[in-house]
Amino acid sequence: MSASTAFTAAIVPAAGLGTRFLPTTKAVPKELLPVVDTPGIEYVAAEAAEAGATRLIIVTSPGKEAVAQYFQPRPELEKTLEARGKTALLDKVRRAPGLLAAETAIQEEALGLGHAVGCAEPNLRPEDEAVAVLLPDDLVLPTGVLARMAQVRAEKGGSVLCAVDVPLEEVSAYGVFDVEEIGEDDVKKVNGMVEKPPADQAPSTFAAAGRYLLDRAIFDALKRITPGAGGELQLTDAIALLISEGHPVHVVVHRGGRHDLGNPGGFLRAAVDFALDHPEYGPGLRAWLRDRVAD
Ligand code: UTP
Repeated sequence: MSASTAFTAAIVPAAGLGTRFLPTTKAVPKELLPVVDTPGIEYVAAEAAEAGATRLIIVTSPGKEAVAQYFQPRPELEKTLEARGKTALLDKVRRAPGLLAAETAIQEEALGLGHAVGCAEPNLRPEDEAVAVLLPDDLVLPTGVLARMAQVRAEKGGSVLCAVDVPLEEVSAYGVFDVEEIGEDDVKKVNGMVEKPPADQAPSTFAAAGRYLLDRAIFDALKRITPGAGGELQLTDAIALLISEGHPVHVVVHRGGRHDLGNPGGFLRAAVDFALDHPEYGPGLRAWLRDRVAD
């Protein structure tokens, strides 16, 4: 199997409660909050498409239907924009539905990330030997790590995850890898994984960065785990179970940028970062920020 055909399905879990964005998430899914004018989940879908995925399986929950709607065409709106000659806006409206074929899986109750991924199993096809999982609140920049992960799976088999090296005082917010050097600069073998460890018990400072290329065996492992950290069914625990059974797991270490859109502080940084590069809003924002910070 060549790296470019390693997976065609990408699962994007978007059924969480988004409590860190309350009260907004009473009514608006956090995955649709705009980074400048585009929801984070569109950037993540574009990244999956760029890496070769043709199907996007969005895991949503009752009340979050808008996330799936975002990937459907809007013919009436398109007609109106066309009639008004608004071609740039028309391109924006068509962009998300044109990226890849979106379908949904429903997670009735937010029982954890592992449970959410498991809800997508019925959407898989017999030929899906591996599946990509992308967390929509994690922007990994520049894109390209998934293609590298597919290359590593083609060489070593098993499952491949993305790691970022985080400061020790931040490890307790992440799934953390116990890694072994294998003589490659950006690839390490994973001997274990633990969800949100206290800093003094963390096996390393390599943390999971919201990109997973998982062998189909993960779905069997997800059925065999029990609730872990936070009382949730953790994807980390299913991966740890596979490792303990001899399933090869490697990480690709991403050394570029990253934004965590899952909390207001990280989200604001991403919005400012993207806006500063925006041809229309960048110059004005830069000037305003200089004044504001000098105050
Ligand atoms: P997060 O833990 O960041 O999202 O999960 P959350 O639980 O919605 O947010 P908080 O902690 O309450 O603020 C990462 C991704 O996994 C999805 C979320 O929607 C998010 O995109 N998720 C999480 C599910 O789909 N189902 C779950 O049960 C939990």
